[in-house]
Amino acid sequence: MYCVQAIASGIYWVGGTDKRLERFENMFPLPNGVAYNSYLIMDDKTALMDTVDAAISAQFLENIEFVLEGRPLDYLVVNHMEPDHCANIEELLRRYPEMKLVGNKKTFQFMEQFYTFSEPDRYIIVKEGDELPLGSRTLRFFMTPFVHWPEVMFSYEVSESILFSADAFGCFGSLSGNIFSDQTDFEGVYLEESRRYYSNIVGKYGPQVQTALKKLGKVDIKMICPLHGPVWRDNLDYIVGKYRQWSSYQPEKQGVVLVYASMYGNTENAMNLIAGKLASRGVKDIRMYDVSKTHPSYIIADAWKFSHLVFGSPTYNLGLYHGMQALLHEMASLNLQNRKVSLVGNYTWANAAIDEMTDILQSMKKIEFVGEPFVIHSAIKPEQMTDLDQLVEDIYASLTAETAEAAGSAV
Ligand code: FEO
Repeated sequence: MYCVQAIASGIYWVGGTDKRLERFENMFPLPNGVAYNSYLIMDDKTALMDTVDAAISAQFLENIEFVLEGRPLDYLVVNHMEPDHCANIEELLRRYPEMKLVGNKKTFQFMEQFYTFSEPDRYIIVKEGDELPLGSRTLRFFMTPFVHWPEVMFSYEVSESILFSADAFGCFGSLSGNIFSDQTDFEGVYLEESRRYYSNIVGKYGPQVQTALKKLGKVDIKMICPLHGPVWRDNLDYIVGKYRQWSSYQPEKQGVVLVYASMYGNTENAMNLIAGKLASRGVKDIRMYDVSKTHPSYIIADAWKFSHLVFGSPTYNLGLYHGMQALLHEMASLNLQNRKVSLVGNYTWANAAIDEMTDILQSMKKIEFVGEPFVIHSAIKPEQMTDLDQLVEDIYASLTAETAEAAGSAV
C-alpha cells in the first residue's frame, strides 16, 4: 500500500525507510536503519527528485503511481548518482516512456558507468543557475561538487523556497512516521547519527561543503529536503550551523576522547587511569573507546565533536596494532584536523606503536601534541605514576586553557 506525505501544496515525500539494513555502504552499522527520501512535484509538469535504494523499490514505485494518479512522469531529477538513490532509474525509464532525465554532464557519465542503458535523447543536461519550469513552480540548479561526490547538485524550487539537498543535511536512522525534524526529538534521536553520517561520509570534503554553504547563503530557503533523515521546515539555522561547524573542522566541545587498543588490559589500564584522574579534576563527559569493540565510525564522530584526543596502543608485529592503525588512517583520510593529541604506547621488546601513531598524526593538519608520550613496558609500574600524572596535568592544562579561551563548559 502506498505511503506518502505532503510536504507542501502539490509536493509529496514518496520515499521510504529500511529498518533491516545492517550496514550502510556495507561498512557503517545502522542500529536504527536508514531512510531514503524522494520527492514528487505535481504541477503542469511532474518532476521526481531522485529515486531510492533497491531495498524499498516496491514501496517507492507504488508511492509514485498513487501520487501521479495516471498522469505521466515528465522529469526525473538526479541530484546524486550514488546507487542508494539511483536503483530505480532504469525501471522508471521503462514505466514512464515520456520521462526525461535531468542532471549534469558528470551525472550522465556516472549513470552510464553504473547501468547498461544509454538514452541520450532523454537527457537534459543542466549547469549552474539553469532553470526548469514546471508550471507554477520552477526548479533552479546549483552545482555542489564533492558534497560528497563530484556530480552532486542541489535543486531549488523557487516558488516555495525548497532546497533538495542531495546527501547534505542528511543522517543515518530511519524515519518513523514523523518526516519533519520539528516533529522529532532531533537532538535525542538523530543528532549523534547526523554527526556520524557527516563525519564519515562527507567529512573529507569540508572546503567543498563551505563553498556550497556560501553559495546557499544568498538564497532564501524555507525548507531543506535531504535524501536521508528528516526534512527541515523549521529552525533551519540549527542544521546549517552544525554543517558550518563540522565542515570547519573546529571541535564543537572542549573535552577528551580516549581511544585504545589493548591485548591483555595493560594499555587499557593506563587509559582508565588517565580518564579517572581527569575526571577527579572535574573534566566531564569523557568518552573512551576500545578500537576492537567499537566501530570506527562512532569513534570518528566523537573525534569530530571533541577537542582533545588520547590514543593508546601496543606495538604489534613490530608495528601498530591494526585496529588503531586502521582508525588513524581513516581519520587522516577524512581530513580530521585541528585537534590536541596525546599518546600512550606499550611494548615488550620493540617500541614501534608511538612512532607509527606519531607519523600518521603528523601527516594531518593542525595536530598539536600535548605532553610527552607515556611509554609502558608491558605493564605500568608504580614508579611511572609521576610521568602519568604529568601527562594528565598537561592534558588538563591544555583543556582548561582552551576552555577559558572558548568560554566552554567541559571542566
Ligand atoms: Fe546517500 Fe551519497 O548517497
